[in-house]
Amino acid sequence: MEHKITVVGIGPGSPEYLLPVAKKVLDAAKVLVGSGRALKAFAPPGCQTKIIDKDIAGVLAFIRERLAETDVVVMVSGDPGFYSMLTALRNEYLPEIITVIPGISAIQLAFARLALPWQEAQLVSLHGRELGGADVGYYSGRKLAFLTDGQHDPGYIARMLVKTGWPAAAKTILCSNLSYDDEKIVRLTLGEAADSTGFTNCIMVVMA
Ligand SMILES: C[S@@+](CC[C@H](N)C(=O)[O-])C[C@H]1O[C@@H](n2cnc3c(N)ncnc32)[C@H](O)[C@@H]1O
Repeated sequence: MEHKITVVGIGPGSPEYLLPVAKKVLDAAKVLVGSGRALKAFAPPGCQTKIIDKDIAGVLAFIRERLAETDVVVMVSGDPGFYSMLTALRNEYLPEIITVIPGISAIQLAFARLALPWQEAQLVSLHGRELGGADVGYYSGRKLAFLTDGQHDPGYIARMLVKTGWPAAAKTILCSNLSYDDEKIVRLTLGEAADSTGFTNCIMVVMA
């Protein structure tokens, strides 16, 4: 019998934002792959676990090896369809053996916290990647939302946007650790955000 991979979006982190269908899959997992934080929160007792770290090739090798014997569940933050390990898995496996359980993206929760629609926002990831050719130029009424990381943090992004022509007075909202007890929503100008530090797990929304 061919074994299957289920990729589960666990949402922004708090169990309150985990879909019931995702909880059901996690509770039944025999082999579970995810971040250290997610495994601590969601791994059922007795299940074999593997932490997703920088060694993605090692994680993929673990999944391949375990799949020879059993089904594997992979947890990703937010929604699997938005900058997650699903991309690497789809490069290796046919869609027939992958089931995806959607989750609430951190971007969705950021816009919900701001009571703002996000249909016309441009979504950009600088998490572990460079801007590449993404157009982040300024025009009136524009909304941008960034996935960030320790290197491409809100300070870096604010300085980059001001260099490309955004006014230093433009509004930005830093949404960090969404759904956790230490969630922080901070409203600044881009000029102020340029000097910000300490926002690591963060969505940065910018508005012209
Ligand atoms: C690899 S990306 C994954 C995005 C995810 N698939 C999603 O839909 O939200 C990781 C980035 O998502 C953002 N992120 C994830 N969880 C977050 C949270 N609870 N609060 C704020 N930002 C979060 C951060 O920018 C983080 O660096």
